[in-house]
Amino acid sequence: MKNILVTGGAGFIGSNFIHYILEKYDDVHVVNFDALTYAGNLGNLLDVQDDPRYTFVHADVRDRDAVDAVFEAHEIDTVVHFAAESHVDLSITDPQIFLSTNILGTGVLLDAAKRHWSDAPEDKYCRTYRPGVKYLQVSTDEVYGALGKDGLFTETSPLLPNSPYSASKTSADLLTRAYGETYGLPVQITRCSNNYGPYQFPEKLIPLMIRNSLLDIPLPVYGDGMQIRDWLHVSDHCSAIDTVLRKGTPGRVYNIGGNNERANIDIVRLILKAVGKDESLIRYVRDRPGHDRRYAIDNTRITTELGWAPRCTFEQGMRETVQWYLDHSEWVEQVVSGAYRDYYRDMYGTAQ
Ligand code: NAD
Ligand code: DAU
Repeated sequence: MKNILVTGGAGFIGSNFIHYILEKYDDVHVVNFDALTYAGNLGNLLDVQDDPRYTFVHADVRDRDAVDAVFEAHEIDTVVHFAAESHVDLSITDPQIFLSTNILGTGVLLDAAKRHWSDAPEDKYCRTYRPGVKYLQVSTDEVYGALGKDGLFTETSPLLPNSPYSASKTSADLLTRAYGETYGLPVQITRCSNNYGPYQFPEKLIPLMIRNSLLDIPLPVYGDGMQIRDWLHVSDHCSAIDTVLRKGTPGRVYNIGGNNERANIDIVRLILKAVGKDESLIRYVRDRPGHDRRYAIDNTRITTELGWAPRCTFEQGMRETVQWYLDHSEWVEQVVSGAYRDYYRDMYGTAQ
Protein backbone atom coordinates (compact mmCIF):
# COMPACT_ATOMS: atom_id res chain seq x y z
CA MET A 1 0.00 0.00 0.00
CA LYS A 2 1.29 3.44 -0.91
CA ASN A 3 0.48 6.28 1.46
CA ILE A 4 0.37 9.45 -0.60
CA LEU A 5 0.25 12.86 1.03
CA VAL A 6 -1.49 15.25 -1.36
CA THR A 7 -1.25 18.83 -0.14
CA GLY A 8 -3.81 21.26 -1.52
CA GLY A 9 -6.06 18.34 -2.51
CA ALA A 10 -9.22 20.41 -2.12
CA GLY A 11 -8.14 22.80 -4.88
CA PHE A 12 -8.57 22.53 -8.62
CA ILE A 13 -5.69 20.29 -9.70
CA GLY A 14 -5.30 18.54 -6.33
CA SER A 15 -8.91 17.33 -6.30
CA ASN A 16 -8.65 16.14 -9.91
CA PHE A 17 -5.43 14.32 -8.96
CA ILE A 18 -7.11 12.58 -6.00
CA HIS A 19 -9.95 11.42 -8.26
CA TYR A 20 -7.41 10.22 -10.82
CA ILE A 21 -5.33 8.24 -8.31
CA LEU A 22 -8.28 6.62 -6.53
CA GLU A 23 -9.80 5.60 -9.87
CA LYS A 24 -6.55 4.16 -11.20
CA TYR A 25 -5.09 2.35 -8.16
CA ASP A 26 -6.74 0.10 -5.58
CA ASP A 27 -3.75 -0.25 -3.28
CA VAL A 28 -3.27 3.40 -2.30
CA HIS A 29 -4.21 5.51 0.65
CA VAL A 30 -4.50 9.22 -0.14
CA VAL A 31 -4.23 11.79 2.63
CA ASN A 32 -5.57 15.15 1.50
CA PHE A 33 -3.87 17.85 3.59
CA ASP A 34 -5.51 21.21 2.96
CA ALA A 35 -6.03 24.45 4.87
CA LEU A 36 -9.28 25.15 2.95
CA THR A 37 -8.46 28.69 1.93
CA TYR A 38 -10.96 30.46 -0.33
CA ALA A 39 -9.65 28.22 -3.16
CA GLY A 40 -10.12 24.92 -1.35
CA ASN A 41 -13.47 23.22 -1.48
CA LEU A 42 -14.31 19.79 -0.10
CA GLY A 43 -17.36 19.87 -2.33
CA ASN A 44 -14.91 18.83 -5.08
CA LEU A 45 -14.47 15.48 -3.34
CA LEU A 46 -17.94 14.54 -2.10
CA ASP A 47 -17.90 11.31 -4.12
CA VAL A 48 -14.75 10.00 -2.38
CA GLN A 49 -15.24 11.34 1.15
CA ASP A 50 -16.41 7.94 2.46
CA ASP A 51 -13.83 5.90 0.56
CA PRO A 52 -11.68 4.00 3.10
CA ARG A 53 -8.64 4.79 0.93
CA TYR A 54 -9.16 8.54 1.46
CA THR A 55 -8.50 10.73 4.54
CA PHE A 56 -8.92 14.48 4.86
CA VAL A 57 -6.75 16.50 7.23
CA HIS A 58 -7.69 20.14 7.73
CA ALA A 59 -4.34 21.83 8.35
CA ASP A 60 -1.81 24.31 7.05
CA VAL A 61 1.47 23.27 5.38
CA ARG A 62 3.23 25.98 7.41
CA ASP A 63 2.21 24.20 10.63
CA ARG A 64 5.22 22.02 11.45
CA ASP A 65 3.43 20.02 14.16
CA ALA A 66 0.49 19.24 11.91
CA VAL A 67 2.81 18.14 9.11
CA ASP A 68 4.84 15.94 11.48
CA ALA A 69 1.65 14.41 12.85
CA VAL A 70 0.42 13.43 9.39
CA PHE A 71 3.74 11.79 8.45
CA GLU A 72 3.62 9.75 11.65
CA ALA A 73 -0.06 8.85 11.67
CA HIS A 74 -0.18 7.71 8.03
CA GLU A 75 3.35 6.42 7.34
CA ILE A 76 3.60 8.70 4.35
CA ASP A 77 5.94 7.44 1.62
CA THR A 78 5.03 9.81 -1.22
CA VAL A 79 4.39 13.56 -1.17
CA VAL A 80 2.75 15.45 -4.03
CA HIS A 81 2.88 19.11 -3.05
CA PHE A 82 0.15 21.14 -4.76
CA ALA A 83 -0.81 23.46 -1.87
CA ALA A 84 -0.11 27.05 -2.83
CA GLU A 85 -1.56 30.45 -3.37
CA SER A 86 -2.02 30.09 -7.11
CA HIS A 87 -3.55 33.26 -8.56
CA VAL A 88 -1.19 35.73 -10.24
CA ASP A 89 -3.53 38.74 -9.94
CA LEU A 90 -3.90 38.22 -6.19
CA SER A 91 -0.12 38.01 -5.83
CA ILE A 92 0.11 41.47 -7.36
CA THR A 93 -2.31 43.01 -4.86
CA ASP A 94 -1.29 40.91 -1.82
CA PRO A 95 2.14 39.31 -2.25
CA GLN A 96 2.94 38.45 1.40
CA ILE A 97 0.71 35.38 1.71
CA PHE A 98 2.38 33.99 -1.44
CA LEU A 99 5.81 34.21 0.16
CA SER A 100 4.57 32.63 3.34
CA THR A 101 2.55 29.73 1.91
CA ASN A 102 4.50 29.00 -1.23
CA ILE A 103 8.03 29.36 0.12
CA LEU A 104 7.88 28.71 3.87
CA GLY A 105 5.19 26.06 3.50
CA THR A 106 7.35 24.17 1.01
CA GLY A 107 10.30 24.47 3.41
CA VAL A 108 8.29 22.92 6.25
CA LEU A 109 7.18 20.03 4.06
CA LEU A 110 10.66 19.30 2.68
CA ASP A 111 12.14 19.34 6.14
CA ALA A 112 9.49 16.95 7.45
CA ALA A 113 10.09 14.56 4.54
CA LYS A 114 13.83 14.63 5.22
CA ARG A 115 13.46 13.93 8.95
CA HIS A 116 10.75 11.30 8.67
CA TRP A 117 12.33 9.39 5.80
CA SER A 118 16.00 9.62 6.80
CA ASP A 119 17.83 6.38 7.63
CA ALA A 120 19.56 8.27 10.47
CA PRO A 121 17.56 11.37 11.50
CA GLU A 122 20.13 12.27 14.18
CA ASP A 123 22.92 12.46 11.58
CA LYS A 124 22.88 15.92 9.93
CA TYR A 125 24.82 14.60 6.95
CA CYS A 126 22.83 11.45 6.34
CA ARG A 127 21.93 11.21 2.65
CA THR A 128 20.08 7.90 2.60
CA TYR A 129 16.36 7.36 2.97
CA ARG A 130 13.77 4.63 3.33
CA PRO A 131 13.43 2.73 0.04
CA GLY A 132 10.73 3.94 -2.31
CA VAL A 133 10.04 7.36 -0.77
CA LYS A 134 9.41 10.29 -3.14
CA TYR A 135 8.73 14.00 -2.87
CA LEU A 136 7.22 15.69 -5.93
CA GLN A 137 7.05 19.49 -6.13
CA VAL A 138 4.27 20.74 -8.41
CA SER A 139 5.96 23.76 -9.95
CA THR A 140 4.90 25.82 -12.94
CA ASP A 141 6.09 27.01 -16.35
CA GLU A 142 5.85 30.56 -14.96
CA VAL A 143 9.25 30.07 -13.30
CA TYR A 144 10.80 30.65 -16.74
CA GLY A 145 9.27 34.10 -17.19
CA ALA A 146 8.03 35.19 -20.60
CA LEU A 147 8.87 34.20 -24.19
CA GLY A 148 8.89 36.43 -27.24
CA LYS A 149 7.27 35.32 -30.52
CA ASP A 150 9.55 32.30 -30.92
CA GLY A 151 11.11 29.57 -28.83
CA LEU A 152 10.00 27.14 -26.14
CA PHE A 153 10.85 26.69 -22.47
CA THR A 154 13.11 23.69 -21.88
CA GLU A 155 14.10 22.37 -18.45
CA THR A 156 17.40 24.25 -18.77
CA SER A 157 15.92 27.63 -19.72
CA PRO A 158 16.89 30.40 -17.28
CA LEU A 159 14.52 30.95 -14.37
CA LEU A 160 13.27 34.53 -14.70
CA PRO A 161 9.92 34.83 -12.89
CA ASN A 162 8.07 38.13 -13.27
CA SER A 163 5.22 38.14 -10.74
CA PRO A 164 5.28 37.70 -6.96
CA TYR A 165 3.40 34.42 -7.55
CA SER A 166 5.94 33.04 -9.99
CA ALA A 167 8.87 34.32 -7.91
CA SER A 168 7.48 32.49 -4.86
CA LYS A 169 6.97 29.32 -6.91
CA THR A 170 10.53 29.61 -8.26
CA SER A 171 11.84 29.89 -4.70
CA ALA A 172 9.93 26.75 -3.75
CA ASP A 173 11.17 24.97 -6.87
CA LEU A 174 14.80 25.87 -6.08
CA LEU A 175 14.44 24.97 -2.41
CA THR A 176 13.21 21.54 -3.51
CA ARG A 177 16.22 21.21 -5.79
CA ALA A 178 18.49 22.22 -2.91
CA TYR A 179 17.08 19.46 -0.67
CA GLY A 180 17.91 17.01 -3.43
CA GLU A 181 21.46 18.33 -3.87
CA THR A 182 22.39 18.93 -0.23
CA TYR A 183 20.57 16.14 1.58
CA GLY A 184 20.08 13.63 -1.23
CA LEU A 185 16.31 13.74 -0.69
CA PRO A 186 14.63 11.93 -3.63
CA VAL A 187 12.84 14.95 -5.08
CA GLN A 188 11.23 15.50 -8.45
CA ILE A 189 9.98 18.77 -9.90
CA THR A 190 7.29 19.19 -12.54
CA ARG A 191 6.74 22.48 -14.39
CA CYS A 192 3.38 22.47 -16.09
CA SER A 193 1.64 24.93 -18.37
CA ASN A 194 -1.88 26.38 -17.87
CA ASN A 195 -4.51 23.84 -16.84
CA TYR A 196 -8.23 23.90 -17.52
CA GLY A 197 -11.08 21.52 -16.69
CA PRO A 198 -13.62 20.78 -13.95
CA TYR A 199 -13.44 22.31 -10.44
CA GLN A 200 -11.30 25.31 -11.44
CA PHE A 201 -12.02 28.33 -9.26
CA PRO A 202 -13.71 31.01 -11.37
CA GLU A 203 -10.98 33.59 -10.74
CA LYS A 204 -8.97 31.98 -13.59
CA LEU A 205 -9.45 32.85 -17.26
CA ILE A 206 -11.50 29.94 -18.60
CA PRO A 207 -14.05 29.41 -15.80
CA LEU A 208 -14.36 33.17 -15.28
CA MET A 209 -15.18 33.73 -18.96
CA ILE A 210 -17.63 30.80 -19.03
CA ARG A 211 -19.45 32.08 -15.94
CA ASN A 212 -19.59 35.69 -17.14
CA SER A 213 -20.86 34.75 -20.55
CA LEU A 214 -23.59 32.58 -19.02
CA LEU A 215 -24.64 35.48 -16.78
CA ASP A 216 -24.29 38.11 -19.54
CA ILE A 217 -21.63 39.92 -17.49
CA PRO A 218 -18.85 41.69 -19.48
CA LEU A 219 -15.77 39.54 -20.20
CA PRO A 220 -12.63 41.41 -18.99
CA VAL A 221 -9.77 40.84 -21.45
CA TYR A 222 -6.45 42.23 -20.18
CA GLY A 223 -4.54 44.53 -22.54
CA ASP A 224 -4.84 43.54 -26.19
CA GLY A 225 -5.79 39.92 -25.42
CA MET A 226 -2.91 38.63 -27.54
CA GLN A 227 -1.00 37.01 -24.66
CA ILE A 228 -0.39 33.33 -25.33
CA ARG A 229 -0.69 30.39 -22.94
CA ASP A 230 -0.05 26.68 -23.60
CA TRP A 231 -3.25 24.97 -22.40
CA LEU A 232 -3.44 21.44 -21.02
CA HIS A 233 -6.47 19.56 -19.74
CA VAL A 234 -6.10 18.89 -16.01
CA SER A 235 -6.51 15.12 -16.53
CA ASP A 236 -3.34 15.18 -18.65
CA HIS A 237 -1.48 17.06 -15.91
CA CYS A 238 -2.59 14.34 -13.45
CA SER A 239 -1.42 11.52 -15.72
CA ALA A 240 1.92 13.32 -16.21
CA ILE A 241 2.49 13.60 -12.44
CA ASP A 242 1.59 9.93 -12.03
CA THR A 243 4.07 9.06 -14.80
CA VAL A 244 6.85 11.08 -13.17
CA LEU A 245 6.18 9.40 -9.81
CA ARG A 246 6.33 5.95 -11.39
CA LYS A 247 9.11 6.36 -13.93
CA GLY A 248 10.92 9.64 -13.29
CA THR A 249 14.51 9.96 -12.14
CA PRO A 250 15.13 11.44 -8.67
CA GLY A 251 16.52 14.97 -8.81
CA ARG A 252 15.17 15.58 -12.29
CA VAL A 253 12.91 18.36 -13.57
CA TYR A 254 10.12 17.56 -16.05
CA ASN A 255 8.28 20.13 -18.16
CA ILE A 256 4.62 19.26 -18.82
CA GLY A 257 2.69 20.80 -21.68
CA GLY A 258 0.44 19.89 -24.55
CA ASN A 259 1.86 21.87 -27.52
CA ASN A 260 -1.32 23.87 -27.51
CA GLU A 261 -0.66 27.59 -27.71
CA ARG A 262 -3.67 29.90 -27.79
CA ALA A 263 -4.12 33.66 -27.55
CA ASN A 264 -6.43 34.73 -24.72
CA ILE A 265 -8.81 36.51 -27.06
CA ASP A 266 -9.25 33.37 -29.16
CA ILE A 267 -10.22 31.42 -26.04
CA VAL A 268 -12.71 34.10 -25.05
CA ARG A 269 -14.27 34.01 -28.54
CA LEU A 270 -14.39 30.21 -28.48
CA ILE A 271 -16.24 30.28 -25.13
CA LEU A 272 -18.73 32.89 -26.33
CA LYS A 273 -19.44 30.79 -29.39
CA ALA A 274 -19.81 27.61 -27.33
CA VAL A 275 -22.45 29.16 -25.09
CA GLY A 276 -24.15 31.00 -27.94
CA LYS A 277 -23.35 34.53 -26.76
CA ASP A 278 -22.38 37.69 -28.61
CA GLU A 279 -18.86 39.15 -28.83
CA SER A 280 -20.28 42.49 -27.67
CA LEU A 281 -19.77 41.13 -24.13
CA ILE A 282 -15.98 41.45 -24.57
CA ARG A 283 -14.39 44.36 -22.65
CA TYR A 284 -10.73 45.23 -23.09
CA VAL A 285 -9.53 46.34 -19.66
CA ARG A 286 -6.28 47.62 -18.12
CA ASP A 287 -3.47 45.11 -18.52
CA ARG A 288 -2.08 43.01 -15.66
CA PRO A 289 1.19 44.66 -14.48
CA GLY A 290 4.24 42.65 -15.59
CA HIS A 291 1.96 40.52 -17.76
CA ASP A 292 3.93 37.65 -19.34
CA ARG A 293 3.40 37.78 -23.10
CA ARG A 294 3.84 34.17 -24.06
CA TYR A 295 4.41 30.75 -22.46
CA ALA A 296 5.19 27.61 -24.47
CA ILE A 297 6.57 24.32 -23.24
CA ASP A 298 9.04 21.95 -24.83
CA ASN A 299 7.83 18.60 -23.46
CA THR A 300 10.47 16.44 -25.20
CA ARG A 301 11.97 15.13 -21.96
CA ILE A 302 8.77 13.71 -20.47
CA THR A 303 7.50 12.38 -23.79
CA THR A 304 10.74 10.68 -24.88
CA GLU A 305 12.23 9.59 -21.55
CA LEU A 306 9.01 8.59 -19.78
CA GLY A 307 6.62 7.90 -22.66
CA TRP A 308 3.95 10.34 -21.46
CA ALA A 309 1.65 12.07 -23.96
CA PRO A 310 -1.43 14.24 -23.51
CA ARG A 311 -4.66 12.50 -24.46
CA CYS A 312 -7.25 15.25 -24.50
CA THR A 313 -7.45 17.55 -27.51
CA PHE A 314 -8.23 21.18 -26.78
CA GLU A 315 -11.45 21.06 -28.79
CA GLN A 316 -12.77 18.02 -26.91
CA GLY A 317 -11.48 19.31 -23.55
CA MET A 318 -13.11 22.71 -23.99
CA ARG A 319 -16.41 21.18 -25.10
CA GLU A 320 -16.47 18.99 -21.98
CA THR A 321 -15.34 21.85 -19.74
CA VAL A 322 -18.00 24.27 -20.94
CA GLN A 323 -20.58 21.51 -20.50
CA TRP A 324 -19.26 20.76 -16.98
CA TYR A 325 -19.74 24.40 -15.94
CA LEU A 326 -23.21 24.43 -17.52
CA ASP A 327 -24.09 21.31 -15.52
CA HIS A 328 -22.52 22.59 -12.28
CA SER A 329 -23.82 26.15 -12.02
CA GLU A 330 -24.72 25.47 -8.39
CA TRP A 331 -21.08 24.53 -7.60
CA VAL A 332 -19.88 27.72 -9.28
CA GLU A 333 -22.29 29.98 -7.43
CA GLN A 334 -21.53 28.35 -4.08
CA VAL A 335 -17.82 28.83 -4.61
CA VAL A 336 -18.27 32.41 -5.72
CA SER A 337 -20.69 33.35 -2.95
CA GLY A 338 -18.68 31.61 -0.26
CA ALA A 339 -21.77 29.65 0.74
CA TYR A 340 -19.73 26.47 0.89
CA ARG A 341 -17.66 28.06 3.67
CA ASP A 342 -20.76 28.34 5.83
CA TYR A 343 -21.46 24.71 5.04
CA TYR A 344 -18.01 23.64 6.18
CA ARG A 345 -18.17 25.84 9.27
CA ASP A 346 -21.35 23.94 10.14
CA MET A 347 -19.77 20.60 9.25
CA TYR A 348 -16.41 21.05 10.99
CA GLY A 349 -17.17 23.79 13.49
CA THR A 350 -14.31 25.93 12.16
CA ALA A 351 -14.01 28.83 9.76
CA GLN A 352 -11.86 28.11 6.72
P1 NAD B 1 -5.85 26.18 -6.31
O1 NAD B 1 -5.69 27.58 -5.87
O2 NAD B 1 -7.09 25.77 -7.01
O3 NAD B 1 -5.71 25.21 -5.03
C1 NAD B 1 -4.77 25.43 -4.04
C2 NAD B 1 -5.13 24.55 -2.85
O4 NAD B 1 -4.13 24.71 -1.84
C3 NAD B 1 -6.47 24.92 -2.20
O5 NAD B 1 -7.21 23.76 -1.90
C4 NAD B 1 -6.06 25.62 -0.90
O6 NAD B 1 -7.01 25.49 0.15
C5 NAD B 1 -4.76 24.90 -0.58
N1 NAD B 1 -3.86 25.72 0.26
C6 NAD B 1 -3.51 27.02 0.08
N2 NAD B 1 -2.71 27.41 1.06
C7 NAD B 1 -2.52 26.34 1.88
C8 NAD B 1 -1.77 26.12 3.05
N3 NAD B 1 -1.04 27.10 3.61
N4 NAD B 1 -1.78 24.89 3.62
C9 NAD B 1 -2.52 23.88 3.06
N5 NAD B 1 -3.27 24.05 1.95
C10 NAD B 1 -3.26 25.26 1.37
O7 NAD B 1 -4.57 25.84 -7.16
P2 NAD B 1 -4.40 24.93 -8.46
O8 NAD B 1 -4.70 25.72 -9.65
O9 NAD B 1 -5.09 23.65 -8.22
O10 NAD B 1 -2.80 24.70 -8.43
C11 NAD B 1 -2.25 23.66 -7.65
C12 NAD B 1 -0.73 23.70 -7.77
O11 NAD B 1 -0.36 23.53 -9.13
C13 NAD B 1 -0.11 25.00 -7.32
O12 NAD B 1 1.10 24.71 -6.65
C14 NAD B 1 0.17 25.75 -8.61
O13 NAD B 1 1.27 26.62 -8.47
C15 NAD B 1 0.49 24.60 -9.54
N6 NAD B 1 0.20 24.82 -10.97
C16 NAD B 1 -1.02 25.27 -11.35
C17 NAD B 1 -1.30 25.42 -12.72
C18 NAD B 1 -2.66 25.89 -13.18
O14 NAD B 1 -2.83 26.12 -14.37
N7 NAD B 1 -3.66 26.04 -12.31
C19 NAD B 1 -0.32 25.09 -13.66
C20 NAD B 1 0.93 24.65 -13.22
C21 NAD B 1 1.17 24.50 -11.87
O1 DAU C 1 1.19 28.75 -16.53
C1 DAU C 1 0.81 28.11 -15.35
C2 DAU C 1 0.05 29.08 -14.47
O2 DAU C 1 -1.22 29.28 -15.09
C3 DAU C 1 -0.12 28.58 -13.05
O3 DAU C 1 1.14 28.48 -12.44
C4 DAU C 1 -1.03 29.53 -12.24
O4 DAU C 1 -1.28 28.99 -10.95
C5 DAU C 1 -2.34 29.67 -12.99
O5 DAU C 1 -3.16 30.61 -12.30
C6 DAU C 1 -2.10 30.14 -14.42
O6 DAU C 1 -1.59 31.49 -14.44
P1 DAU C 1 -2.09 32.57 -15.53
O7 DAU C 1 -1.83 33.94 -15.01
O8 DAU C 1 -1.57 32.23 -16.88
O9 DAU C 1 -3.66 32.21 -15.52
P2 DAU C 1 -4.96 33.15 -15.50
O10 DAU C 1 -6.13 32.24 -15.71
O11 DAU C 1 -4.99 34.07 -14.33
O12 DAU C 1 -4.77 34.02 -16.80
C7 DAU C 1 -4.58 33.42 -18.08
C8 DAU C 1 -4.40 34.54 -19.09
O13 DAU C 1 -5.63 35.26 -19.22
C9 DAU C 1 -3.37 35.57 -18.66
O14 DAU C 1 -2.68 36.02 -19.82
C10 DAU C 1 -4.20 36.71 -18.08
C11 DAU C 1 -5.48 36.64 -18.90
N1 DAU C 1 -6.70 37.08 -18.20
C12 DAU C 1 -7.00 36.47 -17.02
C13 DAU C 1 -8.15 36.81 -16.33
C14 DAU C 1 -8.46 36.17 -15.01
C15 DAU C 1 -7.54 38.02 -18.77
O15 DAU C 1 -7.28 38.54 -19.86
N2 DAU C 1 -8.69 38.34 -18.10
C16 DAU C 1 -9.01 37.82 -16.88
O16 DAU C 1 -10.06 38.21 -16.31
